[in-house]
Amino acid sequence: MALLAIDNLSIRFATNDGEVRAVNAVSLTIEAGETVGIVGESGSGKSQLAYAIMGLLARNGRAAGSVIFDGQDILNARPNVLNRIRAEKIAMIFQDPMTSLNPYMRVADQMAEVLVLHKGMGKRAAVAEAVRMLDAVRIPDARGRVRLYPHEFSGGMRQRVMIAMALLCRPRLLIADEPTTALDVTVQAQIMALLSDLQREFGMAMILITHDLGVVAGSCERVAVMYGGRIRETGPVGPLFRAPAHPYTQGLLHAIPRIDRTDDELAAIPGAPPNMTCPPPGCAFEPRCPCRREVCATDRPPLEGFAPGRARACFAPLADVRGHRETAAPTTPRGTGAHPPENRIVPVAAVAGAGMAATPGRLDDHD
Ligand SMILES: Nc1ncnc2c1ncn2[C@@H]1O[C@H](COP(=O)(O)OP(=O)(O)OP(=O)(O)O)[C@@H](O)[C@H]1O
Ligand code: SF4
Ligand SMILES: [Mg+2]
Repeated sequence: MALLAIDNLSIRFATNDGEVRAVNAVSLTIEAGETVGIVGESGSGKSQLAYAIMGLLARNGRAAGSVIFDGQDILNARPNVLNRIRAEKIAMIFQDPMTSLNPYMRVADQMAEVLVLHKGMGKRAAVAEAVRMLDAVRIPDARGRVRLYPHEFSGGMRQRVMIAMALLCRPRLLIADEPTTALDVTVQAQIMALLSDLQREFGMAMILITHDLGVVAGSCERVAVMYGGRIRETGPVGPLFRAPAHPYTQGLLHAIPRIDRTDDELAAIPGAPPNMTCPPPGCAFEPRCPCRREVCATDRPPLEGFAPGRARACFAPLADVRGHRETAAPTTPRGTGAHPPENRIVPVAAVAGAGMAATPGRLDDHD
């Protein structure tokens, strides 16, 4: 059984301007110990997907479909069950550590509080464990610094404190939502290396949400590319980056600056993401897509498997998409393995076995 199984998840928000269709019929599974990247432009639904996994949707939001974590139905769980799962089994780190750290409490007190509450530890043992965890995230002089307040740490160090807090109860799944975007590049690299090390050491699964395809290439085994609240392409990182099969993935990869290419201008994707209160009736990428055809304006492309472990939602033949643009892979991805045949249509069940699949929606299923 997968550690996390999201099936046909849709999230809607009620607003004065109408209903925001933030996440639409997303299915995704994550195995124990696996790292999956979720990428996509701002507003594509990445964070709301993460919040639904944590059972943390805003008051005006409602979710349909199912999210099963370790056999537990998250969407229908009682608040006390959810609190326990969030504290002990699933942890999340946010882009801005100050949203999760209490500025009025010493780091020692807020870390110890978690252990006292959820592990039943005494205060002294809890502070000792907090120090051990700050050591694990490589905070120099952890014993001395545990007495400081969050504002007394630098940005990178605060992010390490956040990671230490998140790992205190040894979660089985860590969700990292843009964990490094507020940091400078050197610190970013250190934090990503730290996360990878800790993930191996603790044997956790990780969902890494990011705009940075280079970060995904360096840290993840699989990736799901989201646009307009839907997964548009998914697959193992190496093959997907080497030979993207969706025009949107191609656009994202092509928009990455490369120092080995001087012949080409940086190619931004023209246009803007869809308004999710009234998304286009067909493919949401249609107004911006260089490969669009007539059907794209009226029909929504299903996510279909086309190679082992890979799926895409697009009406254009693979050869047309591939022929349209040369691929620009960001960096050499980790653990890419053999290159599978990619021009063969395989049943979506074969892709589901590898982790992700499309299923028909249950909420009003518009793009
Ligand atoms: N409480 C809310 N009420 C109304 N709309 C919301 C609410 N929360 C999120 N949304 C909308 O849901 C959509 C998806 O938001 P989400 O935060 O998941 O985007 P994202 O992909 O994480 O973007 P970013 O990369 O900027 O963080 C957006 O259109 C956003 O405006
Ligand atoms: S379905 Fe059509 S509009 Fe959408 S990505 Fe494919 S070719 Fe482009
Ligand atoms: Mg977000």
